[in-house]
Amino acid sequence: MAAYQTLIVEAPERAPGVALIRLNRPEALNALNTALLAELAEALAAAEADDQVGCIVLTGSAKAFAAGADIKEMSDKTYAQMFKADFFTAGARAVERCRKPIIAAVAGYALGGGCELAMMCDMIIAADSAKFGQPEINLGVAPGIGGTQRLTRFVGKSKAMDMILTGRMMDAAEAERSGLVSRVFPADGLIDEVLAIAAKIAAQSPLAVAMNKELVQAAYETTLTTGVALERRLFHSLFAFDDQKEGMAAFVEKRKPTFTGT
Ligand code: CAA
Repeated sequence: MAAYQTLIVEAPERAPGVALIRLNRPEALNALNTALLAELAEALAAAEADDQVGCIVLTGSAKAFAAGADIKEMSDKTYAQMFKADFFTAGARAVERCRKPIIAAVAGYALGGGCELAMMCDMIIAADSAKFGQPEINLGVAPGIGGTQRLTRFVGKSKAMDMILTGRMMDAAEAERSGLVSRVFPADGLIDEVLAIAAKIAAQSPLAVAMNKELVQAAYETTLTTGVALERRLFHSLFAFDDQKEGMAAFVEKRKPTFTGT
């Protein structure tokens, strides 16, 4: 595995097919700076290119998934600098473009860009210690990598306005109630639980997983009629793969399928 300055990347033995990417800037509660986002793009590209990887888990520390964009790096920037560097966009695009599923395993703070990064992933699984928020208003700015758009789609307008205009945090129970996270686990068991879920996904047909991911994402990008038409096309097209034959044969023969990604 490549060595990174701001990330720890592992292939945990107990979770075959899973790449575990841990944000690792403990001195700054994993604040997202240019270096971290560039390394994250690199690590995601490596996981994407690795046929052994079927699911990616992105996590932080017990205290923070990520406490936002790095305020110290940004504070003196001018508009021209932010615009020319397209600040944070490259790292964010790497997450958005990834075709393999990414689970955000969130313990502690997921604030500002940290909350936005978690929301770019395909699902968020939280520890009971998780705290989500978009506190940019307290800094005199606004979310900059999708927070106003994704939070609103995920939790609805009223709660998104409440979070974004007051800058308040949401705990794990409220986040689960609001549909922001799919499941909540006690903090000390979070990684094991998430790795087990990721390994389950990694054991499925990678072709079916990629198409299912694309279809759920389409639900946020398109109309119902177009989304349902796309679903029908991809559903039919899955019958071109060996994995469909294997999956259905295994059901009929009452055995576990072995998918090959062909
Ligand atoms: N950027 C840079 N450094 C950060 C940081 C951030 N977003 N968040 C925390 N740190 C640093 C602190 O400065 C501190 O460093 P020093 O020890 O060198 O002073 C260290 O991490 C530990 O932080 P605290 O001492 O503040 O820890 P705490 O437990 O008292 O508080 C916290 C934790 C409530 C998360 C607090 O750190 C905090 O409010 N952080 C900022 C959260 C925030 O405003 N995020 C939004 C950033 S803007 C953004 O994300 C824009 C965008 O959409 C792209």
